[in-house]
Amino acid sequence: MSDFRRLPMGVDPYKPSSARIYNYMLGGKDYYDADQEYAERVLKVAPDSKALARMSRRFLLRGVRVAAEAGVRQFIDIGAGIPISPSVHDAACEVDPSARVVSIDFDPVVFAHATASSSPGDTPMLADLRHPDTMIDRLAAEALIDFDKPVAFLVVGVLHFIMDDEHPADIIARLRAAMAPGSYLVLTHASSDSDSHFIRQATSATKGSSAVPKLRSHAEIASYLDGFTILDPGLALIQDWLDDDSPATRVEILGSICRKP
Ligand SMILES: C[S@@+](CC[C@H](N)C(=O)[O-])C[C@H]1O[C@@H](n2cnc3c(N)ncnc32)[C@H](O)[C@@H]1O
Repeated sequence: MSDFRRLPMGVDPYKPSSARIYNYMLGGKDYYDADQEYAERVLKVAPDSKALARMSRRFLLRGVRVAAEAGVRQFIDIGAGIPISPSVHDAACEVDPSARVVSIDFDPVVFAHATASSSPGDTPMLADLRHPDTMIDRLAAEALIDFDKPVAFLVVGVLHFIMDDEHPADIIARLRAAMAPGSYLVLTHASSDSDSHFIRQATSATKGSSAVPKLRSHAEIASYLDGFTILDPGLALIQDWLDDDSPATRVEILGSICRKP
């Protein structure tokens, strides 16, 4: 568990954070009591959440490999979370060691961890997906992302934290507009088709927390992907993207790997 005495500015250890809850679910050590309590409340109603976190991570790395094998060398991991091994950079470098990653998160704790463990070719950035124009300008100016060449935007486990009045569809459209042809979008989103009994239980167990996701329907998430070519098996459960018999889970996460024509 992290030590309060070394907190970055602006960090509230008493408020659960999605990054630290996810770190707990993945078996990491970078969380506080409030995150552990929140995670345990979720695990009571959905004991498969740890398995789901691991599957989501595997889906992310699969998306990186698909884009890298298609020739993409610039990866922008949005809502990157606390660094964990193997990283996006590790997966991209397996295909080409010259691949570059920018790891973006709006949580100062994540940024502090990412800065402490950053390596050449993996640049941390404190930025907010809700302000895509600023983020894209900074990617070009500070992280030297060349938007005339293909990029891969990795938007995994983050878009469901963007509320309706923060306009998730417009955010994805803005990313798409910045992408050169041949670029990739790797996206996941929690589905409102998740077990309805779980949704009711989890909503009451986590009421008032800022880490509550907004679940959306398959049709709504699919509408964000207009203008992209979606690879097989399409916008589907992440289990369907993994090459094994991954078990069904109470929370359903939809994933897609898309290419900009
Ligand atoms: C569940 S974690 C996902 C981590 C990682 N993408 C993965 O799949 O392994 C969600 C992350 O999104 C970050 N996040 C949430 N809202 C964000 C926003 N508006 N801008 C940037 N990061 C955000 C959180 O801080 C957290 O680290």
